[in-house]
Amino acid sequence: NTKAITPPDIHSRKGGTPLVCLTAYTTPVARLVDPHCDVVLVGDSVGMVLHGLPTTLGVTLDMMIVHGQAVRRGLERALMVVDIPFGSYEESPDQAFRNAARLMAETGCATVKLEGGENMAATIRFLTARGVPVMAHVGLTPQAVNTFGGYRVQGRGDDAERIRRDAGAVTEAGAFSVVLEKVPEPLARRITEEIAIPTIGIGASPACDGQILVADDILGMFTDFQPKFVKRYAELGSEAEAAIAAYADDVRERRFPAAEHVYATTSKAGDVA
Ligand code: KIV
Ligand code: NA
Repeated sequence: NTKAITPPDIHSRKGGTPLVCLTAYTTPVARLVDPHCDVVLVGDSVGMVLHGLPTTLGVTLDMMIVHGQAVRRGLERALMVVDIPFGSYEESPDQAFRNAARLMAETGCATVKLEGGENMAATIRFLTARGVPVMAHVGLTPQAVNTFGGYRVQGRGDDAERIRRDAGAVTEAGAFSVVLEKVPEPLARRITEEIAIPTIGIGASPACDGQILVADDILGMFTDFQPKFVKRYAELGSEAEAAIAAYADDVRERRFPAAEHVYATTSKAGDVA
């Protein structure tokens, strides 16, 4: 039996073989990604990807718990990280601990991810001192979409210093790793050299200590969301569309169900289900 990966295992991978990370929201996808990944993130992107929400702001703790429980059942090896959703940690370290503890108790995850840099340093310190390892997330933090006024690249020009300070602050506060999202490549490279914890890039740099993407994005489940940082390894969306159209044709033409899909009056040797 393979031993499950822990937050200290991830922390110790600084500068080593790149960490492979993907999202999962369901048991079957967790089973698919587990053998190949170091980290599986139950991201609050679930709200946009599976629930049709316009942003991640409407994602609730209860949604993260249900999806976390589903993913837990599909993992044996990878470290499971669950996003704390908007509104359930920013108010105070107390609120963050209470809700992180609920996520851990109800899903069995060993660690949580939250968005923020200097502004969340005290919270990260509070959680890590109380048995909650924290993955931080700086750069483009989607829960701040209204503050940013969109999903633009963060840290261009003079703004680079802000991202560097954020990455330094979460490191100092005790985060075991940090996601760097949608920042200029040279900045992500520089931060990776500067800080002592693994950086996990998304729209960042090949120099990062790991990479993360949304599994549904690399599988081509959607055609309407194609950011520059996503590489599509399959076109499951168009395959699914063709399969659904073929089923619809078969039903209308009475080609489905065929003889092999229907039951006889009496049971026969070889019947399975
Ligand atoms: O919610 C998410 O999927 C994420 C990442 C892709 C980093 O936070
Ligand atoms: Na997220």
